[in-house]
Amino acid sequence: MHNSGVLPLLGHVSAAVADAIARTRPEMKGADPVVRRSTRADFQSNAAPALAKRSGIPPTEVAAGLVEALRSDGDLLNSVELSGQGFLNITVPDPLVWGQVAARLTDDRLGVAAASEGARTVVDYSGPNIAKEMHVGHLRTTIIGDSLARVLEFLGAEVIRQNHLGDWGTQFGMLIQYLDEHRDIPWRHDDLTDDTASVSALDRLYRAARTAFDADSDFADRSRARVVALQSGDPTTLARWSEIVAESEKSFGDIYSRLGVLLTTEDYVGESFYNPVLADTVTELVDRGIAVPSDGALVVFSEEVTGPDDKPVALMVRKRDGGFGYDTTDLATIKHRVDTLGADRLLYVTDARQALHFRLVFEVARRAGWLTDEVTVEHVAYGAVLGPDGRPFKTRAGATVRLMDLLDEATTTARSIVAEKNPDFDPAELDQIAEQSGIGAVKYADLSTSRVKDYTFDLGRMLAFNGNTGVYLQYAHARIRSILRKTDARMPTVDPAVSLAPAERALALELDAYADTLADVASTLEPHRLCGYLYDLARDFTTFYDECPVLTATDPVRENRVALCRLTARTLEHGLGLLGIAAPQRM
Ligand code: ARG
Repeated sequence: MHNSGVLPLLGHVSAAVADAIARTRPEMKGADPVVRRSTRADFQSNAAPALAKRSGIPPTEVAAGLVEALRSDGDLLNSVELSGQGFLNITVPDPLVWGQVAARLTDDRLGVAAASEGARTVVDYSGPNIAKEMHVGHLRTTIIGDSLARVLEFLGAEVIRQNHLGDWGTQFGMLIQYLDEHRDIPWRHDDLTDDTASVSALDRLYRAARTAFDADSDFADRSRARVVALQSGDPTTLARWSEIVAESEKSFGDIYSRLGVLLTTEDYVGESFYNPVLADTVTELVDRGIAVPSDGALVVFSEEVTGPDDKPVALMVRKRDGGFGYDTTDLATIKHRVDTLGADRLLYVTDARQALHFRLVFEVARRAGWLTDEVTVEHVAYGAVLGPDGRPFKTRAGATVRLMDLLDEATTTARSIVAEKNPDFDPAELDQIAEQSGIGAVKYADLSTSRVKDYTFDLGRMLAFNGNTGVYLQYAHARIRSILRKTDARMPTVDPAVSLAPAERALALELDAYADTLADVASTLEPHRLCGYLYDLARDFTTFYDECPVLTATDPVRENRVALCRLTARTLEHGLGLLGIAAPQRM
C-alpha cells in the first residue's frame, strides 16, 4: 500500500513552473524549475537565468514568457511578479494554503508520503566494544544512527538495524586468562554491590590484564594459549567469553534504554558472527587474484587510494599469524547484508577517522562483485566530541568520560532548571520531565550540529531555554499544548475563506515544508536539517502567537488559528520523535 501523502505547495508550484517552461520553451522541457521558499513572496523561481544561459536569450525575456504562461494558471497562483534579472516571485492563494493545513491536520502521517517504500536499508550504528566502557565517542554513532533509522523508517523504508559489536579478537584471550587467575575480583552484575555496570569492572580488569601482559612474559604466554583455546572452540574458554559478552551487553542495554534508542538484542550482530566465514571470504579474494601475498600476510592493494609515499594503500585481509581482523570482518559483513539480508542501501555510522577503512572495504567489495551498482553504500561519518578546552572530551584526570555519568549529570542539571520554572510539579513528574529534557538536551546538541563537524560538549548551553536547543523545542511544544488545553478537544474545522495574516501565512508555509525537510534528511543523512527546521517552526509559531491572538479571537478566525496551533504542536512532537526526543505535555 503506497501512501502518497499531501503534495507540498512547493511541489505544486514547481510543477506549474516546469509546465510553463515546457509550454514557452519546448526545447528546454524537463529543465529544473528551481523553486524555493522566498522572503519576498511565498516562493521564488530562479529558473530563467539558467535557461537564458543555455539558449542565449536574455533572462528577462525568458522570465517574461514564463510570467505570461503562469498567469493563466489562476487557481494555483495568486500572483507572479518579475524581479531583478529574471527571478519570479510567486504567491499562492489563501484558500490553497488553508487547504494544506486542513489536509495535514486530518492525516495521521501529517500528510507525509511514504516515498521510500520498498527500499531495504541496513543502518549499522553504535557498535560498542565488549568489555570496554561506552564513552562519549559512542554517543554520536548511537544517537545519529538511531535518528536516521527512525526517519528512513517513517518514510517507508524497511530498516534493518545492525549493532556491529566488537565481540571477537585476541584481546579476549588476555582478559579470560586474567579472570581465571583472579577469581576473587567481582565483575558480574549480580556480584557487584553498587550500581556500577559490570562493563566498568570488566574495563578495569581488561586494563589490569594488559599491564600484566606487558610486565609478565609467563602471563603473556598463558594469554596466547588462551587465544588459541578460544579460536579452536575450547568449551570452558568459550563459555567464559559468552559470559563476558552477555554481561557487557547488559550494560549497553542500560545505556540504550536510558537514551531511548531503538536497538534491541535482535539487532546485535557482532564481529564474532562473521568469524566462521572469514577464511572463505579471503579464499575467494585470493582465487580472483584480488588478494596477494605480502610479507607473509595477504593484502589487497587499492586501485584508488595511494599513501604519502605514492604507493597504493593496502587492506590487510589476513595477518602474518594467520588471524583475521576488522577489515576482513567488514568484507564478510557486506556479503551478508547484500546476499542474506537483501539490502539495497548500506549505511555505516562511525566517526570520520574510519573513512579510509570504509573506502577500502567498499572498493574491495566492488572489485569482488559483492557490491554491485544496485546497492548504495555510504559511510555516514561524524566529527569528534570536544571538551571545553577544544580538545577531545576527557575528565579532569584525563580519563575518557563515562557515558552514564554524563547522562546523570545532564538529568540532574535539567531537574533543577525545570523545578525552578515549575514549583507546582510533584517529584515524580519532575523526575520524568528532568529525564526527558536532560537526555533530550544531550541528543539534540549532538544532532543539531552538522554531522561532520566536531562539537563542544557544554551542558550549560545544551540545557538553555533559549536558542537552538532541545529544551527550547520541548518548551515551545509544551506551551502550545497548554494553549490547546484551553480549547475544546474536538478537531477544528478550517475555513479556507479566511484571509491569512502574514504571520499565519509564514507558519502555514513552514508547516507545509515538513515532508520536504524529511526527504532532505533521508538523502543527505543529516539530522541537523530536521533540527534547523523545527527551530524555525518554533520561532514562526512565536511570531504568530505574538501577532495573532488565538483564544480571544472570534470564529472562524479562532478556529483556523486553533488548527494552526494543533498542527504545529503535532509537527514539533513528531519531529522530536524522529530525533528520538520526547515531547512532554507540560514543562
Ligand atoms: N566497534 C567499532 C568501533 O568501536 C565500530 C563498528 C562499526 N561498524 C562496522 N561495521 N565496522 O570503532
